[in-house]
Amino acid sequence: MSTEILPPSQRAIVAARERLQAGDVVALPTETVYGLAGVATDEAAVTRIFSAKERPSFDPLIVHVPHLPRQRLAAMVEAGWVDRAPLDLTAVERTEALLDTFWPGPLTLVLPAGPTIPGIVTSGLDTVAVRCPDHPVFQAVLEAVGEPMAAPSANRFGRLSPTSAGDVLEELGGRIPLILDGGPTRVGVESTIVRVEADGSVTLLRAGGTPVEAIERAVGCGVRRAAGDDQSAPGRMLSHYAPGHRLRPLPSRAGELTPHQVEGLLAGTDPTAPIGVLVFDPMGAHARERLQALFGRPLELRELGAESGPAARALFRSMRELDRSAGVLLFAEPVSRTHELWPAIAERLSKAMA
Ligand code: TXA
Ligand code: MG
Repeated sequence: MSTEILPPSQRAIVAARERLQAGDVVALPTETVYGLAGVATDEAAVTRIFSAKERPSFDPLIVHVPHLPRQRLAAMVEAGWVDRAPLDLTAVERTEALLDTFWPGPLTLVLPAGPTIPGIVTSGLDTVAVRCPDHPVFQAVLEAVGEPMAAPSANRFGRLSPTSAGDVLEELGGRIPLILDGGPTRVGVESTIVRVEADGSVTLLRAGGTPVEAIERAVGCGVRRAAGDDQSAPGRMLSHYAPGHRLRPLPSRAGELTPHQVEGLLAGTDPTAPIGVLVFDPMGAHARERLQALFGRPLELRELGAESGPAARALFRSMRELDRSAGVLLFAEPVSRTHELWPAIAERLSKAMA
């Protein structure tokens, strides 16, 4: 199968609509990462998503919904995507607060599943993950098709999420017919996922593009972190987002590495292997030269920035770029900051290292 890439245009939206209505899959940009979309109520289309990605069927998909201007929960209940019955009054109020505050945007809510969502989308769970993407191209396709869209990140299972149309081609070229090119994604990491429990308590299942402290402000209560062994969000599996080469943590900030530490990092490795390093705070010419001298090998440095927004935006792209050099040894600075998008960055780095 040849894979076509179209820039966003009315013709591209029509091409995507025709494919999707015929039960095919299309890669679409969102504000977080590119998604591989299929009509959520079409089981054959959803099966195609799983097979193009080589994704195991026990890992459920997020259902992407159109922009709902008001009464968002009621609209989703009416459409049969979500079931309100199990939710108590607090749960309904907090769900509405989250929808009003963060949609459209990088927040996915796990809610009781409604009758129109097939079990293949939810992997048989009685909950469904819903999200309203903040991207004009995805929204135009949702509107044209008139159905909600299941869409996991458009990468082969367990690999780095794609943040550009070129990344999607690298991952799924030859396996899918069409990619709409919306340029590089704005957020760069996937949506935050929270589950609203029947009693209104809120559980974080995946850190992502919406900071948890903002979620806590919107609902007026603390957000519980899911236990490490909570398999109810199967994306919590270790070894996700893995680059082709092994990524290892630096024992300290790059500027503070000692010769002894670097010796330890390089012990037993191929002395001709190039080094790729992800750092956050900008280093300055002097620190860069020192690092180069310490490693004593061809060094590719990616400085992601001291602000979590730009760092998140550059994260997957930088890992993918470094990963392209043959035989490269990849290292990343540790992240200890716990606000804004830092937990999302830390979670992705640690999964890539697992
Ligand atoms: O930003 C995003 O969320 C991107 C874009 C494309 O929208 N999508 C995305 O999808 O990251 P995916 O499939 O790569 O990750 C979705 C995660 C999976 O880890 C899955 O386990 C979890 O959502 N999930 C889906 N339905 C769930 C449910 N009912 N309960 C708990 N977790 C669920
Ligand atoms: Mg994914």
